[in-house]
Amino acid sequence: MRPFSTVIAFSAVALHATNTHAIPPQAVFISSAADSYSGIPDVKDAVNPICIPFYGLRDAIMGGLFQGRCNLNAKAAIRISFHDAGPFSLASQAAGLPNSGADGSIIVYPEELTRDLNNGLQTIAGLLAPLPDQFNVSPGDVVHLAGTLGLLACPGGPSTTVFVGRPPPRNIAPDGFLPNSAHSIEFLTARFADMGFSEREMVTLVGVHSIGKQMFIDPTKINATFDTTPDVLDTRFYTETRDGKVTPHTILLDSDVGFATQPPTAKHWESFIGNQTLWAIDYAAAHEKLSVLGLDPETVAGLIDCSEILPLPIDITKLLVPGPVEGGEEPMVDPVKLEAVTRRYRSIWLA
Ligand code: HEM
Repeated sequence: MRPFSTVIAFSAVALHATNTHAIPPQAVFISSAADSYSGIPDVKDAVNPICIPFYGLRDAIMGGLFQGRCNLNAKAAIRISFHDAGPFSLASQAAGLPNSGADGSIIVYPEELTRDLNNGLQTIAGLLAPLPDQFNVSPGDVVHLAGTLGLLACPGGPSTTVFVGRPPPRNIAPDGFLPNSAHSIEFLTARFADMGFSEREMVTLVGVHSIGKQMFIDPTKINATFDTTPDVLDTRFYTETRDGKVTPHTILLDSDVGFATQPPTAKHWESFIGNQTLWAIDYAAAHEKLSVLGLDPETVAGLIDCSEILPLPIDITKLLVPGPVEGGEEPMVDPVKLEAVTRRYRSIWLA
């Protein structure tokens, strides 16, 4: 039998291979070098010279801010990548109005952070803001690399393409375009369609609430999480939301409950229940779209794929506690196995 770590390495590569971007060269050889490979590509093996500064930026974010784990900064980084790009509007684009997009404006214009729906993002914005100058890269590249790395810091999160070369933001993102959990499902579906996302992509993207918490919706439950396993990006979020499961430490957003139970979106919601692999594949594609939302087609065509810098994703489907689960619930991730994999494949960044 192969050692446990080797098995994980194989499955992580398999998940990686489902994405469209290049697989880091080290990952290809992981079957023969599994015992020595850390899961983290080294700058000395850089393939594209343009990507070299992004290795340092990767370490500043994944090590300096996340310490290799799904900590508060990693979670906030995923959210800020959405709040940066999400105010994009196809209708505004067609009308020639000022617009938003995946441009990093949220760390450039402090006024965006004074908006209610951006509450809670001030700390991560402040931590990311100095990095463009420090690494001589654009604010958009910093925000969207941080989002991608946040996903990889949270076990279960998939690998998505790292595009670099975004131009500086043209303007402050127009106000009033971010979705609100009190909006109707009809309204939210229309708002996501105006961003360019299908109903299914919308349902896929909100799956990251699996690692989320709330501070500003219900003041009586500050820090309540959106599922009972907030340190892993698992599909338990979909199950618990559909079932209306709430504990003293969890809370459900009205919007998520609506997606889970109302006909236009419920079928997509249902498809992810118990299907971590499907969610991870679909999520990677939707997040990749988010990471270039609103950029001009010529800009997108000129972006460089620097996915070579990414560490391996951690495939939690190989880390489950074996055996039947009481009450028909989904199996849990074994914390001891998870810690072993985290120490092995996030080694250089751990505090
Ligand atoms: C219908 C669309 C959405 C609504 C209404 C919504 C709403 C919310 C709300 C109310 C919170 C809690 C904020 C707080 O009180 O602290 C939250 C957290 C979060 N959201 Fe969303 N969200 C939506 C879509 C998304 C998308 C598309 C993403 C990313 C792709 C995302 C990522 C996150 C993350 C990661 C958190 C947790 C942040 C943390 O724990 O620090 N959300 N969202």
